[in-house]
Amino acid sequence: MKIEFSVNGAAHSVEVPEEMPLLWILRDRLGLTGTKYGCGIAQCGACTVHLDGQAVRACQVQAQELQGAEVLTIEGLGTPEALHAVQAAWVEHQVAQCGYCQSGQIMQAAALLDLTPSPTDAQIDAAMSGNLCRCGTYPRIRAAVHAAASKLGG
Ligand code: FES
Ligand code: FES
Repeated sequence: MKIEFSVNGAAHSVEVPEEMPLLWILRDRLGLTGTKYGCGIAQCGACTVHLDGQAVRACQVQAQELQGAEVLTIEGLGTPEALHAVQAAWVEHQVAQCGYCQSGQIMQAAALLDLTPSPTDAQIDAAMSGNLCRCGTYPRIRAAVHAAASKLGG
């Protein structure tokens, strides 16, 4: 089927099987490889992107759900010259270790701050609990989310 949707503010039209996951469309059809494949079954959060402003697992969203949708990926959150506040806080707090989970962590954190500008530790832990990190960066993630919240005025 033909899907017309927007990714990072740019219009795209792709011909794909109706059940193809958004994750594969992003990575294999559009070349946006910042969004990672971890488990494929909604258990790790590595594939987190925003769909119409909400954090979703791209491995679980099918092409047929994307008609007219607006998708935001890590490539569109900020630019190297103008990082999103969450990205800047991640750099300041040196959050990443191997880095594999981090684009998903950042997209989840950005969605959290959109809804909850000044989250408590408990709210951060609850919002981020579906994003796994084998490197154990959780304390730095929490610190960076607080820093980004301050920067954004929360
Ligand atoms: S790859 Fe989507 S949640 Fe793990
Ligand atoms: S930084 Fe390595 S899995 Fe999270």
